[in-house]
Amino acid sequence: MSRKILVLDTTLRDGEQVPGAKLNLHEKIELAHQLKALNVDIIEAGFAASSQGDFNSIKEIASQIGNGSIMITALARAVKSDIDAVYQSIKMAQNPLIHIVLGTSEVHVNKKFNKTMEEVMEMGVDAVKYAKTLMPYVQYSTEDASRSEFEYLWKTIEAVVKAGATMINIPDTVGYAVPEEFGELIGKLNYRLKNLNDKVILSVHCHNDTGLATANTLAAIKNGADKIECTINGLGERAGNAALEEVVMAMKLRSAYYDAHTDINTKEICRTSRLVSNLTGLDIQVNKAITGDNAFAHSSGIHQDGLLKDRAVYEVIAPEDVGVEKMDIILTARSGRHAFRNAAEKLGYRYQSETDFEALFNQFLELADAKKEVYDYDVYYLLQRHNSSRA
Ligand code: KIV
Ligand code: ZN
Repeated sequence: MSRKILVLDTTLRDGEQVPGAKLNLHEKIELAHQLKALNVDIIEAGFAASSQGDFNSIKEIASQIGNGSIMITALARAVKSDIDAVYQSIKMAQNPLIHIVLGTSEVHVNKKFNKTMEEVMEMGVDAVKYAKTLMPYVQYSTEDASRSEFEYLWKTIEAVVKAGATMINIPDTVGYAVPEEFGELIGKLNYRLKNLNDKVILSVHCHNDTGLATANTLAAIKNGADKIECTINGLGERAGNAALEEVVMAMKLRSAYYDAHTDINTKEICRTSRLVSNLTGLDIQVNKAITGDNAFAHSSGIHQDGLLKDRAVYEVIAPEDVGVEKMDIILTARSGRHAFRNAAEKLGYRYQSETDFEALFNQFLELADAKKEVYDYDVYYLLQRHNSSRA
């Protein structure tokens, strides 16, 4: 049996930090429902102490979505007031997890906190001890781990595990790492951590400043990481975070190489990706791996000829596996009511009245004008919006 890798989605926290990507309460809840349908193991719903709005949405997500095995978490700095805010916002979830972050690199300790290495380590230990009085599951993130001195990083991990941390997250906060070196770091930490306490989960959180977030995350999995942190469409600070869809599909494609799997319902990937793009208003680049409009389009004659003989000639991932249904007809603004109605009914639209249909059709025309070509997942998104506006 291959190793199960836990997936934490942080679109609602790290992803939402992107300028212009702010979501309102209803949008956050809609996305959280979709993340549950995608079957992520943990949703990071926000940064509870950052604003009343964030606190309220985390609380709503914990109440509405936090049942069953899914874990709900929110971020706290290593201070009591932040930890209290997280506790108050997620305590109604069946499986809550407090996430504490504190830097371990010299530049964070000296420049950001103006403290000594020992003082910062003590702050981390105290924070974990306090969080453990509130909840059994606590994740500790050693911010800027990839630029930290190894023995200090390890000493911090050892100390917070002894204080009760149940997950250790190793962030490549500024996208400094390269795959071979990051893999080696995770291998060394994994070896020591398993000897210290083999119940503690080792996690990674990679940023994409040099385009290596997916590669670094995969290198970490290969070297023993049990959990990965990602966002949909790679949304996140600066150049973003590791894209969930890329890491998950690379693992699925090369499952024998990684000897590991996730429980992500990959058929929900495209729908989730479109939803995030539509809610945030941030387009997906056309050649984006897995979810770009061209990800499964073949234009050259040689490729089309090969595909007609056997799809395996040029296709390593079946579009259906990520929820891209092959459409007989790609809709455009000129498709007309009949073609649109057929496509909508195929995706579950129940005709109620001429007025209702006309409202939906007008939304479709607006989208078709903007996008030129409308796919199944776009129609699906329109239906979701239309149904919630009717409710
Ligand atoms: O990038 C980072 O270091 C973070 C931590 C809070 C995990 O987002
Ligand atoms: Zn981050």
